[in-house]
Amino acid sequence: MMSARIVLDYNRMLAPNLGGNGIHPELLDTSADRFRAAAAVVDQWRRDGRLGFYDLPEQGESVDQINRFVASKRAEVDDVVVLGIGGSALGTISLHNALCTPGWNELRPEERGYLPRLYVLDNIDPTTIAPLLDRLDLRRTLVNVISKSGSTAETMAQYLIVRQRLAEAFQDDDFRGNLVFTTDPASGLLRQIAEAEGITTFPVPPNVGGRFSVLSPVGLLPAAFVGIDIAALLDGARAAVERCRSYDLYQNPAGIFATLQFLADTELQARLHVMMPYSDRLYSTADWFRQLWAESLGKRYDLAGNEVYRGPTPIKALGATDQHSQTQLYMEGPFDKTITFLTVRNRERDLHIPPLYQNDDALAYLGGHTLGALLDAEQEATARALAAQGRMSMKIELPELNPFTLGQLLMTLQIATVYAGALYQIDPLDQPGVELGKRLTFALMKRPGYEAPPAPEPDPRWIVR
Ligand code: PA5
Repeated sequence: MMSARIVLDYNRMLAPNLGGNGIHPELLDTSADRFRAAAAVVDQWRRDGRLGFYDLPEQGESVDQINRFVASKRAEVDDVVVLGIGGSALGTISLHNALCTPGWNELRPEERGYLPRLYVLDNIDPTTIAPLLDRLDLRRTLVNVISKSGSTAETMAQYLIVRQRLAEAFQDDDFRGNLVFTTDPASGLLRQIAEAEGITTFPVPPNVGGRFSVLSPVGLLPAAFVGIDIAALLDGARAAVERCRSYDLYQNPAGIFATLQFLADTELQARLHVMMPYSDRLYSTADWFRQLWAESLGKRYDLAGNEVYRGPTPIKALGATDQHSQTQLYMEGPFDKTITFLTVRNRERDLHIPPLYQNDDALAYLGGHTLGALLDAEQEATARALAAQGRMSMKIELPELNPFTLGQLLMTLQIATVYAGALYQIDPLDQPGVELGKRLTFALMKRPGYEAPPAPEPDPRWIVR
């Protein structure tokens, strides 16, 4: 029977497979103790109640509440619109793109099983938002405002606009049934508004940071609306928590992922970490991971308060598309990258390439294969070509793409991120740089109580017009 486990193959991170470049197995062996210490730190953070994301697979009651709410709204809703940014949006986009039929919003209602379309507005570009709002029938639209803090300028500006439009669409009727907030259970402005106006809410547990919240109601509520089996997603996440319990580096996929990336960065100056799915449906997962890795590990201070300026730079690429864009650089440019391929062993659809032009060698070789086989061959060819140039890569393979395997992947990468934080000896849970940007935005928009330092007048000599 095929295993439903995701598989991590890191052969091509190691020196014997890279002509001497890469990580030496002895270094990995001696890092096992370092990993054990990091895992102990992570377990302590967990006991201190800081890593709420680990417990999200056990939120059975929330799952029932979500499913009941979704069922109660289904007949009334053609469109679900999420307002949120960063950790309040990227997980939902990843779930939607990975687990719903591609082109979901363009499908006819019967092709969608009469489930709603889903739009995630994770930016404030009015040229995107205005036409969407003009197009939607707001009386049949459910708006899910997601903000843990309840104060992020982008999300709150969207909320004000959409609320006004809803009020206009409903004229004298109450529009509040078309709003649902996902926010902190006790604090923040959205919570206050919800309580004052009787708007339904779902909680973001206080000890679950935005970028670790995909498996909380932040991701689960919109996912349930588009028919994703959220219980199976959490089952996959639970399986990953179990699997990543081990202090034995070689038994713990999150541990080995974090340790290899950490060693590549700190020992081999491979500071750029590319995630490259060979699957259109997983491209948004690479985007989600980019935020997780960047915001968690990019830190000025270590845990002891020393200025360290740590953090690898995550990059996303798509196979095979970016073989014709990025991989020349990955093959022959500076030795400063690792590549993590994401692949799916059994696709739910494939296409046979017909055996046409059999007398023409340049085309005949394609006939009789499938497009999936070509995509797999391209991934293997890229990995081999990288290895031939002494470039590090690893592969995470999903046996198939479904809620259970995606739940494993998301949870494994979240655990890997906190392990990496412990290895770098930084706090992977805060984001002071993001908060600074938020405060300066408040100041520039004249929010009382916030001030921005004056910026120097631009020198016209340094502007080309
Ligand atoms: O991961 C994070 O903490 C951030 O990316 C937040 O998710 C993002 O800034 C949005 O914050 P909020 O959910 O408070 O609106």
